[in-house]
Amino acid sequence: MSTPATVILGTGSYAPDRVLTNEDLSKMVDTSDEWIRARSGIRERRIAAADQATSDLAVQASLRALEASGVPASEIDLVVVATVTPDYPMPSTACIVQHKLGVPTSAACFDVNAACSGFIYALDTACALVSSGRYRRALVVGAEKLSSVVDWQDRGTCMLFGDGAGAVVVGPGTTPGLGLIGTKLGALGEDTDLLYIPGGGSRLPTSAESIARGDQFIKMKGKEVFKLAVRVMEEAARDILEQHGFQAHQIDLVIPHQANLRIIDAIAQYLELPVERFFVNVDRYGNTSAASIPIALDEARRSGRIKAGDLTLLVAFGAGLTYGSALIRW
Ligand code: ACO
Repeated sequence: MSTPATVILGTGSYAPDRVLTNEDLSKMVDTSDEWIRARSGIRERRIAAADQATSDLAVQASLRALEASGVPASEIDLVVVATVTPDYPMPSTACIVQHKLGVPTSAACFDVNAACSGFIYALDTACALVSSGRYRRALVVGAEKLSSVVDWQDRGTCMLFGDGAGAVVVGPGTTPGLGLIGTKLGALGEDTDLLYIPGGGSRLPTSAESIARGDQFIKMKGKEVFKLAVRVMEEAARDILEQHGFQAHQIDLVIPHQANLRIIDAIAQYLELPVERFFVNVDRYGNTSAASIPIALDEARRSGRIKAGDLTLLVAFGAGLTYGSALIRW
C-alpha cells in the first residue's frame, strides 16, 4: 500500500452566536418555517455580528484546528483560505488570517474562489504543495460571511445561506494507506449565470445605480442549480471512487456540501447508499458555501462519526459552476 502524500492533522470550526430561525425569517419576507423545511431541510442559520468579518470567523476555526493538530501557528508555512466573501477585494483574507494568528511572514498566503467547492479546491491545492515537499504545514480554511451578500428581501435565496468557518491543518503523510487518497476537481464555466453576484467586480463596478439595482447580492436560478447539483455531485463521487478502485458501499461517511437536504437525499438515492451514511447539519447552519464541508468534517470528527481507518468522501458543487470530490482514509 502506497503512502498518501498528505494527512489532515487536525480540524476546527466556528459558527457565530446569533441564530436566525425560519420563524424569524417569516417576519422579514413572505415565507414560512414549513415551506423552508420542506424545500431545503433548513431550520436555522447563524449570522455574524456587524463587527465580525470573514477573517474573524476563519481565525476562530483555525485556532481550534491548530489546537487539535498540536501544530503551533509558528510552524505553519502555507495559509489557503477558500471564500467568496473576503474581508476586502484586496488583499486576500489569508494574509489577514496569517497576521491575526501569528503565522510567520515566510508563509505563503492566498485565497481560493470556487464558491461552495472552495474548500475541496483549497485542500487539493494545499495538499499538492505539501506533497511536493515545498511546504510542510498548511492551514486550509473555508470561511464565509454570506449574510453580507444576501438580499434579505429575496425570499428565494435569503432562507438558504448562513455564516461560519471551518479549518484543517495538513502535513506530510507517514503511515501507508492513511491520508488524502485523491481529489477530483472540475468546472462548468458555461453556467456562470445560474449563481452569481453581478456587481462589485470589473464587469459592473460598484456605483449608485448598481447598488440601487441590488447587483451586490447573490442571484440564483434555484431550480436549474438544483438539477445540476445533483447530477454533478453524483458524477464527482462516482468518478473519484472509480479512479481509486472503490465501490460506493465501501464509504463509511459522505460529507456532502450542505446546500439542501433534498439534494443530499437525491445523491444518496443515486449512489444507492443509506442517507444515514451522509453527514447532515444543513438544518442548523443552512448553506455556508466554502465553510460547509470543513464545519461538517470537524463536527463529524469531534462527534466520533469518523473513526480510525474510516473512508470518507467529500463532495461539493458551487457557483462557477464548480465541483470537487476528495477521498480520505483516517
Ligand atoms: N417561501 C415561500 N415561497 C417561496 C419561497 C420562500 N422562501 N421561495 C420561493 N417561493 C415560491 C416561489 O415564488 C414559487 O412560487 P410560484 O410557483 O408562485 O412562482 C414557488 O415557491 C416555487 O419556487 P421554486 O423556486 O420553484 O421552488 P423549488 O422547489 O425549486 O425550491 C430552492 C427552491 C429551495 C431554492 C431550490 O430550488 C434549491 O434548493 N435549489 C438549489 C439552490 C442551491 O443549492 N444553491 C446553492 C448553490 S451552492 C453555492 O455555490 C452558493
